[in-house]
Order: sequence, then C-alpha cells, then structure tokens
Amino acid sequence: MKELTKTSIIGVIGAGTMGSGIAQVAATAGHTTVLLDTNSTVLQKAEAGMKATFSKLVEKGKFTAERSTEIISKIKFSSSLMDFATCDLIIEAIVEDLTVKQNVFAEIESIVTPDCIIASNTSSLSITSIAAACSHPSRIIGIHFFNPAPLMPLVEVIPAITTGELLSDKVKTLLTSWGKSVVLAKDTPGFIVNRLARSYYGESIRIHEEGWEGIPAGQKGFATIDWALKEVGGFKMGPFELMDLIGNDINYKVTETVWTQFFYDARYKPSLTQKRLFEAKRFGKKSGAGYYDYSATAIKPEPLMDRALAEKIFMRVISMLINESVDALYLNVASRDDLDTAVCNGVNYPKGLLKWCDEIGADKILNSLVALHETYLEERYRPSVLLRKVAAGKTKFYS
Ligand code: NAI
Repeated sequence: MKELTKTSIIGVIGAGTMGSGIAQVAATAGHTTVLLDTNSTVLQKAEAGMKATFSKLVEKGKFTAERSTEIISKIKFSSSLMDFATCDLIIEAIVEDLTVKQNVFAEIESIVTPDCIIASNTSSLSITSIAAACSHPSRIIGIHFFNPAPLMPLVEVIPAITTGELLSDKVKTLLTSWGKSVVLAKDTPGFIVNRLARSYYGESIRIHEEGWEGIPAGQKGFATIDWALKEVGGFKMGPFELMDLIGNDINYKVTETVWTQFFYDARYKPSLTQKRLFEAKRFGKKSGAGYYDYSATAIKPEPLMDRALAEKIFMRVISMLINESVDALYLNVASRDDLDTAVCNGVNYPKGLLKWCDEIGADKILNSLVALHETYLEERYRPSVLLRKVAAGKTKFYS
C-alpha cells in the first residue's frame, strides 16, 4: 500500500456535521480534498457553512483572506462517486447504519485504485463488521474524529481484526501531521472515549435517581451533581449540562449501543431517566429543554453547595470512571498513555484517569467500589481485576 503524504488526495463521504469538519481539517493540512454527499442541499449547506466559518476566522485574525481562499479552493464539493477515483484515503461519515455503510463501502471499492485506504468515522459500529462486506478488508480502518472535528484534537485510529499490519502506523503518521492527537484503540464497543465516559453520565444519573445522600429531586439535584464534579473534580462541565450540550438523543443512543454490544453488561446499562427525556424529545440545549430548562423565562437552579456531599459524589463517580479505564487497560483496549490522552483530548477531562488513580490511590478507589458493590449487590460496581492487583501490590500505573 502507498505511503500517505502531503500530496495524497483525501475523499470524504457525507457532508454533514462530521464530514464537512473532516474535509476542512484535510484541506487546511494542504490536501486536495473531495467532499461528497448524495444530497445536493446538504452539499450546498456544507460549502456555505465552510465559507462562513472561514470568514469568521479571517475576521478574528486566525487566517488571512488569501489563506482561507486557498484552503476552500482545495475542496471539491461533489455528488459523484467517480470523483473518488484518484483518492488515496477516503473517510466515510454518512448515516450510522451498518447496511448503508456496507453498501457504500462496496460502491467505493468498485471505483478506487487498489492502493486506496478506506476509513469509517463510525462512533458505534464495529470496524470489522464494515470491513466484512468489502472485497479488500485489509485496507479498511476506523478513523474516529470528535465533534467539532476542526477544534477537537483527538482522533482514535481503530484497526479491524482484518486490517493490514502497517496501516495503523501510516494513518497515525498522517493524522499527526495534521496536528491531531492520535490514539490507537482496539475494535471494541465505544472504542476509548465513548466507553470510558459512559459512567460519568450513568453514575451521575443513578445518584440523582436515588436521591442519594439527600440530593434534591429535579433540576436542583442536577445542579448539585454538576457543581460537585466541577468543584471537587475540576471537570469543565458537569454531566447533566454536558449531556444537554451533546444532545440526549445522541448520548442516549451511544449508551444503548455500547450496552447492547457488550452483550448487556450491567456496567453500561442505560438509564430510564435519559430514555424518557429522549422519548419526550427533550434533547437538551438544541431543543430548549433537557435535564435543564433553556426557555427564555427559565430560572437557573442553585446547587446545594455542601462540600462534604460534593466530595462523596465525586468519589462515587470518579471510582466508576477509573475502574472503567483500568479495565480497558487490563483488556488491552489501548495503552496506558493512549487511554489517558483520549479522555483529556476527547472529552476535556482535567487529567487522565490512570494518572488520577495514582494520585487518589488504587486502594481508595477499590474500597469505594467494594462498598458500592456491597450496598447494591449489582454487577455494575464490580472492580477490575487489574485494580485489585494494583491496590494489593501498592503499585502505581506511572511508576
Ligand atoms: P449527519 O447526519 O450530520 O451527516 C451525514 C451525511 O451523510 C448527511 O449529509 C447525508 O446526506 C449523508 N449521506 C447519507 N447517506 C449517504 C450516502 N449513501 N452517500 C453519501 N452521503 C450520504 O451525521 P454526522 O453527525 O456527521 O455523523 C456521521 C458519522 O460520524 C456517523 O457514523 C456518526 O456516528 C459519526 N460521528 C458523529 C459524531 C457527532 O458528534 N455527530 C462524532 C463522531 C462520529
């Protein structure tokens, strides 16, 4: 397979939220780029949106007008798959549907050269299942950007079990040259970030549902948990405000998919609270209501600013987060450094979870989980084998 260089031609299929962002990243890195969508309205919107983004960036002094014209002129907005014929790398960012993706991959393969690498930006499907429909599965790989692609530094590279041996390194080198922070993940549900971050939301919802330790019901309770995690943990956003920003439709679907793909492992079980919001179309900020009310007349709820309570909330949530990261390391989903980099650069956590475990102490995290397990007798609180080992040996992840 050919080397990927500055002169490689990049194809992006799907000109929605992710595809247009990815095309912008590729063109900014100097590549001739083809951005393709079957829907001409979407394509026109993508072109107009990109022009508007660049004029804002020019106004802010981030780019000169010449540079922005140069970048936009590198993108060919196309509705014909034939324009992919000369591409060296194609990144697919169409609708999240396995059959549709498999059909599109087969179509792409019938047009491109044998050397062309084809990647999927899927957040929840297995890369292996997409590759299985291809005649040359060794050239298929996952390249998972985060939203918004031009701003979020993280990219997860996911080889399928059928991916050619050297392909991950080639793709990593290219994406690094685009200024991205690149991590390697095993083809497992949620890859790294969407797996590790689940308990930030799930455990927080659970605490609220229980009214644990006297946490108030309703928005005051959401505000209390959000405040606790920002105040004690240093998270930039609390779980409820973050879910409302991501959208409860997207967040719920990701949770449900990860849970299903892990054969209904209790650790990833979605919550009825979020399902009901999803059913009521309370998606969050974009729909005017989610956990919080975003209407013009809404009154922002005040949290209970009880430091002792906040510390308990933090300990319960961080124990779950750390346990997940430790278990992902135990199961070789990614390396220690990649697991920690992923949460810092993909979801803006203030530090990597394994580093955090060292700071708090694996024994304290283990004790917290054992206590939760004893209280609830639920599988979701089972500590990772590796956490037990590290706690028993009084060792650290970073020696
Ligand atoms: P979107 O709905 O904004 O865009 C998808 C685009 O694909 C639409 O413009 C649609 O017209 C086009 N499309 C559908 N079928 C097509 C076909 N057969 N040929 C060409 N174009 C076709 O979706 P979004 O949010 O950009 O997601 C795209 C992919 O990226 C999905 O796999 C999603 O899971 C993944 N992803 C989404 C993230 C997000 O935050 N939105 C983050 C990371 C990954």
